[in-house]
Amino acid sequence: MEKILVIDFGGQYNQLVARRVRECNVYCEIFSYKTPLDKIKAMNPKGIILTGGPNSCYEAGAPSCGPELFNLGVPVLGLCYGAQLMQHVLGGKVEKADAREYGKTLTYIDGGMGKNELMEGVPEETVVWMSHFDYISKLAPGFEVLAHTDNCPVAACANVEKNLYAIQFHPEVLHTEYGINMLNNFVRNICDTEGSWRMDAFVESTIKSIREKVGDGKVLLALSGGVDSSVAAALLAKAIGKQLTCVFVDHGLLRKNEGDEVESIFGENGQFELNFIRVNAQERYYNKLAGVSEPERKRKIIGEEFIRVFEEEAKKIGAVDFLAQGTIYPDVVESGLGGESAVIKSHHNVGGLPDFVDFKEIIEPLRDLFKDEVRKAGLELGIPEYLVFRQPFPGPGLGVRIIGEVTAEKVRIVQDADAIYREEVAKAFESGEYPKFTKLPDQYFAALTNMRSVGVMGDERTYDYAIALRAVNTVDFMTADSAELPWEVLQKVMSRTINEVRGVNRVFYDLTSKPPGTIELE
Ligand code: XMP
Repeated sequence: MEKILVIDFGGQYNQLVARRVRECNVYCEIFSYKTPLDKIKAMNPKGIILTGGPNSCYEAGAPSCGPELFNLGVPVLGLCYGAQLMQHVLGGKVEKADAREYGKTLTYIDGGMGKNELMEGVPEETVVWMSHFDYISKLAPGFEVLAHTDNCPVAACANVEKNLYAIQFHPEVLHTEYGINMLNNFVRNICDTEGSWRMDAFVESTIKSIREKVGDGKVLLALSGGVDSSVAAALLAKAIGKQLTCVFVDHGLLRKNEGDEVESIFGENGQFELNFIRVNAQERYYNKLAGVSEPERKRKIIGEEFIRVFEEEAKKIGAVDFLAQGTIYPDVVESGLGGESAVIKSHHNVGGLPDFVDFKEIIEPLRDLFKDEVRKAGLELGIPEYLVFRQPFPGPGLGVRIIGEVTAEKVRIVQDADAIYREEVAKAFESGEYPKFTKLPDQYFAALTNMRSVGVMGDERTYDYAIALRAVNTVDFMTADSAELPWEVLQKVMSRTINEVRGVNRVFYDLTSKPPGTIELE
């Protein structure tokens, strides 16, 4: 399979670079800059992209690479730090600029349109996203300038003969108007790729390789009802049918009707052939959670109880050959197994294997996919859109959206309020009646505050709970801003919630960004 390597120098957009390459229908993987040259050669890449990074390439100890990387006969594209490093290593000069160049910047493509393949189809003046202190003050021998800005003499340069390209700005972010064009020019034309990375082909080849790997063995998967484990379940079911057993633990902290929805897709009357076990553990969870209000303890109890329930089911099934997991590529990169930037954080899906299930090997059919690719694969496999485009949902479920003690009654309240909220927001968005409402928030849900207050309904005094509505926009869920929803929509949600959900007499809208808040309330 043709492959592009993204060499990671620690920049914040590195996964985005890889996703953009995949969007050009070429498979790519992220590797640390420390990867030995022999390993890089052995992978036989069609092209190499060097990413941005936070360092200055001329400082001692800065992440670097040898000049040999540029002599492999493979096209190389350096981005930001990667561009500067290429120039530095090949004999150019990089220096600190007087001022940082940051944000949308007008850029002039030198020599006019179509002068060389990288800038093919890019107009002579175009806006790009800049973020740098250092700049290339002298080109390495054999290079020519492809673009400049008012403050930056080398916004892009190339040694066309050797297929070496360097871009000071970030073509991977959408603020760079023709960035996707430039990447596509590099990935498809300069690297001379066919573009055969497509989700239908992925599904087909993965089904084949799962069959080869599993043989007539047995596979066990914990199905949460989320996108990743559902797509993993569907892939495995298509590949090995009844050799797959999915255990779905309904902990009573799912969204309204979610348990039944999952069962309708993967259960006996669903479209897939597999063994589906639904464990209705609601009571068990509510008993464990009774009287507990400290957020971390709640999380711990919910997590531990999951392991216990899953373990009991696994024991009934007996030894299996494989334990399947819905790990996806960002989990792998973020655990520092692939890239550079992420060694900071260890993801719960990787490494933290349950040690209580008797299995020989792990199988992770989505390990190479980004989230948007998982969704596309899900659609290919015939999973309904409402599940495939489901919002992120925390493992502890509504347990972290009910402040204080969790009870069956509180779960009912938050489920009903949340269903109304999601329905009204989606309806308002789809109606097109609100010109400013151009994008659904990245995550939106209702939570139950532990606060009760006095109200009046009919002629009666009420003393009921307050619901908090949350809606955020975010790129990476590490930071987030509260989303601006049309006032009428919020009013409608408020009125429906108070009228339809028994036990609620007040509705708040949460304006807090992250930081200082988190997205979930606990
Ligand atoms: P916070 O609340 O930390 O959430 O701002 C960031 C994102 O992560 C989700 N989240 C979780 N996901 N297990 C998960 O799988 C968890 O324990 C968990 N806690 C929060 C949250 O929904 C948001 O998308």
